[in-house]
Amino acid sequence: MPLHPVIVGRDTETEALHACLDAGRHVLLEGPVGVGKTALAHATCRALGRGFVRVDGDGRYTEARLVGAFDPPAVLASGYRPEHFLAGPLVRAMREGAVLFVNELNRMPEGVQNVLLPAMDEGRVVVPQLGEVSAAAGFAVVATQNPTEFVATAALSEALLDRFELVRLDYQSVFDELAIVTQEARCAPSAAVIAQAVALTRATRSDPRFRRGASVRAAIAIADIATRLGNDVARAATIALPTRVELVDPQGTALSDVLADVLAELKKKRTSASPALP
Ligand SMILES: Nc1ncnc2c1ncn2[C@@H]1O[C@H](COP(=O)(O)OP(=O)(O)OP(=O)(O)O)[C@@H](O)[C@H]1O
Ligand SMILES: [Mg+2]
Repeated sequence: MPLHPVIVGRDTETEALHACLDAGRHVLLEGPVGVGKTALAHATCRALGRGFVRVDGDGRYTEARLVGAFDPPAVLASGYRPEHFLAGPLVRAMREGAVLFVNELNRMPEGVQNVLLPAMDEGRVVVPQLGEVSAAAGFAVVATQNPTEFVATAALSEALLDRFELVRLDYQSVFDELAIVTQEARCAPSAAVIAQAVALTRATRSDPRFRRGASVRAAIAIADIATRLGNDVARAATIALPTRVELVDPQGTALSDVLADVLAELKKKRTSASPALP
């Protein structure tokens, strides 16, 4: 992903996020993998002139990592001095009045989630041996969570949810996906390759043979790889999709055969819609 992708579409969601941040609220961005949560948050912060401090949640993330910790050798040498405190992302975002962007907050341990409560409520956090850190104006938390039906992860606590506004992102329209792949692809794929990559990726979300479909991220990968493989979309799909989709019956027809079948159906639809085209 380029460092500063221009956001395609998403006018409603951008407006909602913008309004919440302007109003000093914290926002939970909810949507399936690859739907553009990070890109949207990043672009909105840029537009608002807010800093962006990113944290990627996982089950082993600790409170000390989020808040920060004292440098042990420095403390041994000269005690708990403020300059020996190595600020974590939360304290950094609070001091800078930046947006703390927490990816997959629901995967973080409850103790880490709880550290956010006073920071979100009162803009303060108490750090042992350092004292109270107050948030500069502009500090906000934007967190993401994938809808629970997609992954077997814990839901956020009621207390934490009560402090967030919700902005939902669903899969983009076909027009937006075509524009995103055109913009984000690195290998200048042809319009025909982009159209096939997008159609195939979208089919993985609607075809009943798939339990889990792929995001536009897959369409970008297929379009790029196909371009490097002499425009062979079918082959590119067998490289890009196994990591991103799940079949309803993994023991049944092989993924490559299902994909070949879906591509053939898409081609049939294309030729019957416009018989003059190849
Ligand atoms: N509206 C959009 N405009 C431009 N690019 C987009 C848009 N939506 C998604 N993308 C692109 O699609 C890819 C995935 O987007 P992003 O990483 O923001 O998704 P995500 O929802 O944060 O995914 P994850 O759930 O895996 O964290 C990126 O390459 C991003 O640039
Ligand atoms: Mg993301």
